[in-house]
Amino acid sequence: APLSPPDLSKCHLATDDATNQQVKCCPPYTTAKFKDFEPPSHRDPLRVRKPAHKLRADEIARFEEAIAKMKALPADDPWSYMQQATIHCTYCNGAFDQKGTETLLQIHGSWFFLPWHRYYLYFWERILGKLIGDPTFAIPYWNWDTPEGMYMPKIYLNPQSPLYDDTRDKNHYSSVLDYNYAYGDPNPAGPQIEETITSNLCRLDRIFKESHHQPSLFMGKPLRAGEVVPANASGSCENLHNTMHQWVGPPTSPYYNMGNFYTAARDTIFFGHHANIDRLWDVYSKFRGQRPEFRDRDWLDSTFIFYDENREVVQVKVRDSLTPEHLRYTYSPEKLPWTNIRR
Ligand code: C2O
Repeated sequence: APLSPPDLSKCHLATDDATNQQVKCCPPYTTAKFKDFEPPSHRDPLRVRKPAHKLRADEIARFEEAIAKMKALPADDPWSYMQQATIHCTYCNGAFDQKGTETLLQIHGSWFFLPWHRYYLYFWERILGKLIGDPTFAIPYWNWDTPEGMYMPKIYLNPQSPLYDDTRDKNHYSSVLDYNYAYGDPNPAGPQIEETITSNLCRLDRIFKESHHQPSLFMGKPLRAGEVVPANASGSCENLHNTMHQWVGPPTSPYYNMGNFYTAARDTIFFGHHANIDRLWDVYSKFRGQRPEFRDRDWLDSTFIFYDENREVVQVKVRDSLTPEHLRYTYSPEKLPWTNIRR
């Protein structure tokens, strides 16, 4: 059966998996009634997400203004920066059971990874747009699948900016991103820099080719109501994405912020990273002619809950998340330097 929305009133403590400590990640609206999500009108403006390394000064200023406003909201406001970050903990560190069961709700490690994060970013973006009164506002993405983007984007590295987070691995501030990075690896130097870039591009090409006819390889394997996330059910897209979390976050436990589920979304770069993951799903889907990746109702009818940009609690279904344009956003067209790359 498909996942049911959680019972908000039964939220409980979650667990930080690095320290095993109990943490509070319940939303401030546990008694709310929720209604069905309605996708935005097709007459609404299409928000265009651009690469972080290509934003103009005025676009950076808009983004900073929106984040600063979100950070200034009271701590218990569901729109506030910390509450928005805590949503990640809620659904990743076990603050809810799957309704009617004792199985913890977990949206990582299976075919729910991409749709759940798509909605997470969707509401975050629209709330930010509301805060600055701009219905066309779009979040930037960290374009790490192109050589110029294989660095921490500069917009996140200005210590005076609300986009800054001092917990990151400073050793990586100007180093090239290595998709094979493991904690402690030295930065590529000299001719290794070009080799790393090429090997990153080849990895992407391989991921897309291998999974073209088998979406579960890219998206993740099924998870059905009542099941615990099986081992090795995550898709190649999610597996690749884990590396950026580790590379941005500090190399030592508890890996706050980016390297730990509990805290990852406290770093604004999380959303830039996930926007690129979301974009790669869109690229994948368009390569496949936009046929749904799965026709299984256990996927399509699975339901999550979010607090929206109208201050309402809504239940969203996977089936409404399959196309960005249907949610009235899109990605600026960029070259895909990894398609059919030759070594
Ligand atoms: Cu919810 Cu990047 O993980």
